[in-house]
Amino acid sequence: MKIPLDRQAKTPIYLQIRNRIGHLIHTGRLLPHAQLPSIRTLAHTVQVNKLTVLEAYSVLEADGLVRAKQGAGYFINPPEARVSAPQKPLLPSAFNPAQAVIIPTHSINDFPKIYAASLRSHTQPDCIDFGLGFPPPSGLEDLQRIARRAMKEAPTFFDLGHPQGDLNLRQHIAQILIQQGLEVSCENLIVTSGSMQSLSLLVEYWVQPGDWVVVEAPTYHGFLSSLQQRGAQIIGIPMTPQGMNLDLLAQYLASHRPKLIYTMSTLHNPTGITTSVEHRQKLLALAAQYDCLVIEDNAYEPLSFDVTPPPIKAFDSQAQVIYVGTFSKTLMPGLRVGYMAVTEHHRKALTERKLLHDFHVSAASQAIVKEYLASGHYRRRLNHMRILHRERRDIMLQGLSRYLPPAVTWTVPAGGTFLWLQLPDNFALSDICQAAAAQKVLVGSGAAFFPPQQGYPALRLNFALPAAETERGLQILGNILKSQAALQ
Ligand SMILES: Cc1ncc(COP(=O)(O)O)c(C=O)c1O
Repeated sequence: MKIPLDRQAKTPIYLQIRNRIGHLIHTGRLLPHAQLPSIRTLAHTVQVNKLTVLEAYSVLEADGLVRAKQGAGYFINPPEARVSAPQKPLLPSAFNPAQAVIIPTHSINDFPKIYAASLRSHTQPDCIDFGLGFPPPSGLEDLQRIARRAMKEAPTFFDLGHPQGDLNLRQHIAQILIQQGLEVSCENLIVTSGSMQSLSLLVEYWVQPGDWVVVEAPTYHGFLSSLQQRGAQIIGIPMTPQGMNLDLLAQYLASHRPKLIYTMSTLHNPTGITTSVEHRQKLLALAAQYDCLVIEDNAYEPLSFDVTPPPIKAFDSQAQVIYVGTFSKTLMPGLRVGYMAVTEHHRKALTERKLLHDFHVSAASQAIVKEYLASGHYRRRLNHMRILHRERRDIMLQGLSRYLPPAVTWTVPAGGTFLWLQLPDNFALSDICQAAAAQKVLVGSGAAFFPPQQGYPALRLNFALPAAETERGLQILGNILKSQAALQ
């Protein structure tokens, strides 16, 4: 195969190869099921490095145009296989918790303890860690190669950067958000040290001690802690299978006039629930009616298996919503790169606060993320993660039906990495977690996601572990839960 290359052009060589082969496939000149030249042959013919061809083929794979067959090479997908495979029907979720609003009377900041325990769990050998807060690590070789390329920018690391973040990185993030349906310009993006920094800066900026703040119950415990630290008063509005209970939200907006609503519209942590367009629009209308700021924290959105509705912020005509995202769940949490999309109105004040915290996010981390995005590897990685996570979610769902007692219900998330188990009210949660840990199975205790001593017994399980671990871990957990059921 001959591929004309322009070695002076700005488009990287691997993208030129990908574009040319993509064009040949789309115009029918390369036929379905035909085999592409081997990596070595094409590298030799067009006089490039084998890695360059590998990258081009990987991006074509992420585009859905070709597939790799182990040991045999790359083959052209027929048109019908170029869209993602239709989902197998799954048993619908039976999750349906009682709808009780939570207003805690005292506050304990448990997050440092939970965080320390999660660090300890990484050092325990042979544990099955369903409590893991991220997808299991993968793609180390890719990372090393991409990081090496990113380090070519090292000379610029001698200078300090802009507190809002690298302009080119912000332009790439804006492109991702536009594809998600959120039209945002890079001027309104602030890159932060993980999305946790976005959340802390927002709380510090917007919430005064004593202010009422609405959260979903359950919710992300890091944010809960940040509110508790700030001395905010929390209103936990229960989750329904469709998202936050909007009737109760309306009621508490009217009675308590909160300053802020914190919500995860897509792949909510910990339940994995994604809300509909109608739910998003209704929530926004309520926030506007009561002039209440919304933080939309969609950390897991890129890991959705299906097309999701545009974020709440996409419908926001009154500068009511701040959107928060991160690369921790899709690349590596240790890079500490997140971002927030703010309105002009808040940008200056938040950027100044960011400057006072740490000047800006590490230039090396920003360069690595930028290289991922610019090279197309990010898209490729997301594609792989979605396919893998869907398979592993289904394995976990089968295991749950097989091993758990009937009184336990769970959510069926369309993406991300967690699902949420609701246990009967009389189950002893801490005994269950301890018994599991004694058999080297770590689970996310649901208590962490509610204000202290509130909520119902529940567990958050990471479904993205290797199949054999999930199977073994669920057998052990199932036996523990069955003995709890027998005690009742
Ligand atoms: C919903 C949600 N938001 C924010 C974060 C913070 O992530 P990071 O600071 O690593 O971006 C997490 C981490 O678990 C999360 O689950």
